[in-house]
Amino acid sequence: MQVVGLTTPQEVFVASRERKFRINEILVIEDPHQGSLIGEVVEANSYNRFIPLSINHDFVDARVIESLERLGYSISEDEINIARVKLRNEASFPVTTGAKAHLPEFSEVKDLLVRSTPQEGLALGEIKNTEETADTMDENLKGLFYVYTKGEKKKTKNVPFLLDLKSFQQYPHIGIFGGSGSGKSYGLRVIMEELMLKEIPAIILDPHYEMDFSTKEEGLEGTPDFKSAFKKFQIGEDIGVEFLALGKRDLLDLLSAVKPLTEAMSSAVEILHRRGDTLLSFSSRLELLAEALELGRIRIEKILQQDMEPQEREKYKKMKELLEEYPNIPLVSVQGIAWRLRRLQASGLFNHNIKPVKEALLQGKLAVIQGPIWLLQVFSTYLLANLYRARRDYKDGELKGNAKGEYFPPFVIATDEAHNFAPKGYDAPSKGIITEIAQEGRKYGVFLVLATQRPTLLDETVTAQLNTKIIFRTVRGHDIATITEETDIGAEEAKRLPYLPSGDAFVSSPLFGRTVAIRVRLPYTKSPHTLNPFDEIKNYRQKAEERLLDLLETHLPIYETNLLKVIQALNAEAPDLKLEVRTLKESLETLVKSGKLQKTDTPFGAMYHHQ
Ligand SMILES: Nc1ncnc2c1ncn2[C@@H]1O[C@H](COP(=O)(O)OP(=O)(O)OP(=O)(O)O)[C@@H](O)[C@H]1O
Ligand SMILES: [Mg+2]
Repeated sequence: MQVVGLTTPQEVFVASRERKFRINEILVIEDPHQGSLIGEVVEANSYNRFIPLSINHDFVDARVIESLERLGYSISEDEINIARVKLRNEASFPVTTGAKAHLPEFSEVKDLLVRSTPQEGLALGEIKNTEETADTMDENLKGLFYVYTKGEKKKTKNVPFLLDLKSFQQYPHIGIFGGSGSGKSYGLRVIMEELMLKEIPAIILDPHYEMDFSTKEEGLEGTPDFKSAFKKFQIGEDIGVEFLALGKRDLLDLLSAVKPLTEAMSSAVEILHRRGDTLLSFSSRLELLAEALELGRIRIEKILQQDMEPQEREKYKKMKELLEEYPNIPLVSVQGIAWRLRRLQASGLFNHNIKPVKEALLQGKLAVIQGPIWLLQVFSTYLLANLYRARRDYKDGELKGNAKGEYFPPFVIATDEAHNFAPKGYDAPSKGIITEIAQEGRKYGVFLVLATQRPTLLDETVTAQLNTKIIFRTVRGHDIATITEETDIGAEEAKRLPYLPSGDAFVSSPLFGRTVAIRVRLPYTKSPHTLNPFDEIKNYRQKAEERLLDLLETHLPIYETNLLKVIQALNAEAPDLKLEVRTLKESLETLVKSGKLQKTDTPFGAMYHHQ
């Protein structure tokens, strides 16, 4: 392995007869004058006499060929592997042509590759193409987890990629980008598992109902048990919002998440909501005012002159007062607010509080927050603002020397579909709090992990604060452009983005000072719905067939001429099947085809029976 061709202080070509190069491989170049230089393969090619070197002008130029010949390579006979190698640090002067190169021992590149320990770092996956270097690695770094490649689950043989927990203080937030099916959910799952293993309080918003950690991946040894390390909460069923504790801002956010509020509605809420309002007091004020506005002052006064029950009278008196108090609020605004409030109420949101989530975090657990996306957006705004406040108050109190405040731990907030929570270009209720945490969460130990298919749609202020970015396969040009702008990903890597296999990613982090190509490890657990949709259909069909066969059992043999009677009996037993002559006949034929029944022609028409 040696340097060939014209060199610069940044880049060299390395040729080898024996060894094929792989992209992202690290090489050590032994420059006789400058000592060891470390470089990374950014392009790799092989040539033999069937593909003469000279035709490939774009990669290797004539000077490389010349130098190969001078160094004793026979271009017309040998197979020659050539790598373009970028130096990790610029050399003082151009590298000496002919300098030897070798694959590094672990000790030569340890600082470059491993910036943490298995105890203090999140083991996200393996660094690609580092098998040889991993051979000389410390034992405690070997085989830390499994990877899934080419249909096999195997213990990793590479150098592990460890994201140091302590570095979060300096580089707090993580972005996960990638197209559909590129491995984002797996990546999120791995990060959540690692946080659970380290007992770091975390919450994850789970719009896809996929974040369950109780089902273990099959075929792995020593899988940790996560059952008691996470807790799932359904919005409206286990957790919710305490109306009494709502400020005006919270209430406005909640209402506008159902459907954006008009300006008139917003100011009506500002006026109508009073400190200390319960759901009942606020909603009955709305309903009464709406009724009053519909009737009008004159009719209400007329009604009040009539005889009526004292309770009725009280109501009309109240309506009159409300009209006098709020003379300028339009009816449509009041109705609009009331309608949104009823929708929130129907979701069960107001029947619970967020105490269970706080408790889970205090216990160092992962809280999984589930709900439909619209409700999740509303609720997360309230939840995140509250949790963040709890942490901030505690921390600020501590700084002011008053440590009496209630303890609240640092925590991680993770979500998929992050562009819904902090969209670019328009407002969303949760955008404010996410931006705030992105900008100053570091001070308080509140960290974000935001995944999205569409980095282009994520608010720029937030994107700019995501220091560590994990980038999976990305096909859209727009998104690739955003990614190149926002990370230190080079042109070579950007070109490869559309072709990355699922689970492969580039990590761009100031901590490593260069992009690292990794394969995310195989999660220890799997999502409750990883069933392939086609397997799902097959399963469903099989179950339906078995059930029908069970039902038919008592009626066999069945004569074609007698179908109607059988149907009556079957429909009485299983009304949900809604069988008709045609559908039953089709099903019987299918059962015959699959060999579960037999069909024989008799003088009374076809007969279906057992073998
Ligand atoms: N680290 C990995 N190791 C092995 N296989 C993986 C890995 N990551 C992803 N895969 C494979 O790719 C598939 C898609 O991954 P995943 O569900 O994480 O994609 P996604 O980016 O979340 O997609 P979407 O945006 O559609 O939700 C997985 O079902 C799995 O088969
Ligand atoms: Mg996903």
